[in-house]
Amino acid sequence: MPELPPDVPPGDDADDDAPTVPGSVMTDAPLPTAGAEAPPAPEPLCASADLAERGRAFVWDVMLWGRPARAFALRFDGRPVAYLNRCVHVPTEMDWQEGEFLDMDKRWILCSIHGAAYEPADGRCVGGPCGRGKLTPVPVEERGGQVYWYPSSDIKAVTFDEPPPAAAATDEGAAPAAASPPTGAGPAGPASQTGHDAAEGPQPT
Ligand code: FES
Repeated sequence: MPELPPDVPPGDDADDDAPTVPGSVMTDAPLPTAGAEAPPAPEPLCASADLAERGRAFVWDVMLWGRPARAFALRFDGRPVAYLNRCVHVPTEMDWQEGEFLDMDKRWILCSIHGAAYEPADGRCVGGPCGRGKLTPVPVEERGGQVYWYPSSDIKAVTFDEPPPAAAATDEGAAPAAASPPTGAGPAGPASQTGHDAAEGPQPT
């Protein structure tokens, strides 16, 4: 066995100055545990420029618990936010036209069916029949002029192996979406109506 050079104490890593393999990255991160599932990779969603401040949302297809569903992303106060396109009151799509979720004042996400209003920043219900519910968030990230979303164990990307998702709401019991923007222009106040008692509230015109 060859002797170490005199300036390298026994036990030191003699390969410290060895050339690195191109593309390799040294990391202190723990090695993946056998059987552990790797976190899902981000999926490209749209260009940053596609999300105007309080403008039309970007709507896309996802698989929710293995069934077709839709999600939407919009920019609010400079930040992209995304949720499942599914009202808490009745699990149906909320936009009054494709990608149009905000009220006339561009302040609230408004369900076009019975007028539930949600805070765009965090998806919580602030008025109408959604009670104390919250929209289901979809994690998104913006970098390099591109918006990405993160699938989860519940919400997955549509793959070519799966049948094409239905274009319209697939849930039962929902009235058809309104053809014109809701005129409520936002809730009367936080949680002014709660629960199904308020389900018979003002209808969008
Ligand atoms: S379905 Fe959204 S408020 Fe009723």
